[in-house]
Amino acid sequence: MSKEKVPEEDLNLPYFHGALMNQDADQLLVNDGDFMVTMKLQIDINKLVVRLKKGIRRYEIKRLPGSAKLGSRSKETIDKLINSLKTDVLEIKGEKIVLKRAIAKGKFQLMHKDVIFKKKIGAGAYGTVYRGRLVKTNEVIAVKKLDPESADEDGLAEMMKEARVMQLYDHPNIVKFHGFILDDLPYLLVLEFCNGGSVEDRLRDKGSRLTVPTRVHYTYMAACGMDYLHKKGCIHRDIASRNCLIHRGIVKMADFGMCRATTVYKMDMSKPCNVRWLAPEVWDNGETRFNTDVYAFGIMMWEFFEIPYATPYAEMKAGQVKRKTRTGYRLPPPAAMPKEVGDIMKECCQPAADKRPNAEKLKEMLEEVYKKQNPTETTHNSSLAAPVSTEPTAKSNIASKIDNGALKKKAEKEKKKSRDSKG
Ligand SMILES: Nc1ncnc2c1ncn2[C@@H]1O[C@H](COP(=O)(O)OP(=O)(O)O)[C@@H](O)[C@H]1O
Ligand SMILES: [Mg+2]
Repeated sequence: MSKEKVPEEDLNLPYFHGALMNQDADQLLVNDGDFMVTMKLQIDINKLVVRLKKGIRRYEIKRLPGSAKLGSRSKETIDKLINSLKTDVLEIKGEKIVLKRAIAKGKFQLMHKDVIFKKKIGAGAYGTVYRGRLVKTNEVIAVKKLDPESADEDGLAEMMKEARVMQLYDHPNIVKFHGFILDDLPYLLVLEFCNGGSVEDRLRDKGSRLTVPTRVHYTYMAACGMDYLHKKGCIHRDIASRNCLIHRGIVKMADFGMCRATTVYKMDMSKPCNVRWLAPEVWDNGETRFNTDVYAFGIMMWEFFEIPYATPYAEMKAGQVKRKTRTGYRLPPPAAMPKEVGDIMKECCQPAADKRPNAEKLKEMLEEVYKKQNPTETTHNSSLAAPVSTEPTAKSNIASKIDNGALKKKAEKEKKKSRDSKG
């Protein structure tokens, strides 16, 4: 891949969409004559993408310093080339390239110059996560960077899957999506920053100092997030405490990398997966559904109450987890888990998938428990109500995240996660 920078004059063209993928570009070109310019992974190759009467066409623009060439037409810059095509129509393979409306970037398409980021706060499957700021509003953000070694067609496709679904959501218990950045390398996702890090890190760091009512509240908030997602027709497929983040005491579902907007999604069982959170019936046919998310939620409930924090079935290898859960073995409810929460956890993990509560029911049941545990809280908007006493300040949280080796731990965890496979 070329390491060259995209020329500033190209970047600033309102209709320059950088590495926008074909399927996303095609969606934006609605009427005949709608057009934009994109860039493939090598920046010297740009494409003019235009909707013509017979469909979408992609024409290669050769970009060299001081020239932009399409077919027989050559001008000094892309903008001049486009303007010339508008006034003096070019014909390629018997088809006239009629350009009518330049399609500008959408509201989720940000540019590198819109963000500032430096401090690393996390690491995941395909990238590194940083804390940063939006230049325009000074709002604190998290930036998920596609690492250079993953910045190929497949890596970009993964990143854009996450961006496409996240654009559709707006809920207090789902991490807010600000946008994606494809105008130049590195490719980025821009998200709401969560000052408390992941729930898993919080459970590890706070141990028994995290009260049972707070744990119940976390569980309830996560259920509100999952209920919203399911109502939007989306299976998360990676529900676990590591993928729930906390911001000012509010739990938010995050990491939509595996999420699918469908009611059944058949997964490739030959690829590594999160065996410990995987509903056992998935081994039969590879099908993940809303009720397999509910099973994973049950395992996450166990994580939320086990003190000190432990990986589910820590003493077992992945293969053993698979064998034992398929023959009916289940994690016993942790000692700190109130009985009624334990009963809900068992229902979520029961073998008969269709008997598991759906997310809405689960949310209602947990709301009941939450009300009992926190009698002074009003339930209206209770997903937003944080028990103040148990929450550290934003500042101390960020400091601990950066100073106490959390990153190293994260890297070790990711390594462990990737060892867990089919087994
Ligand atoms: N919006 C955010 N705010 C704060 N920290 C975040 C945010 N997004 C991710 N992180 C940190 O980065 C880690 C990896 O992010 P995640 O989205 O789970 O990536 P992956 O898909 O690679 O697992 C998280 O566990 C968390 O510690
Ligand atoms: Mg993750």
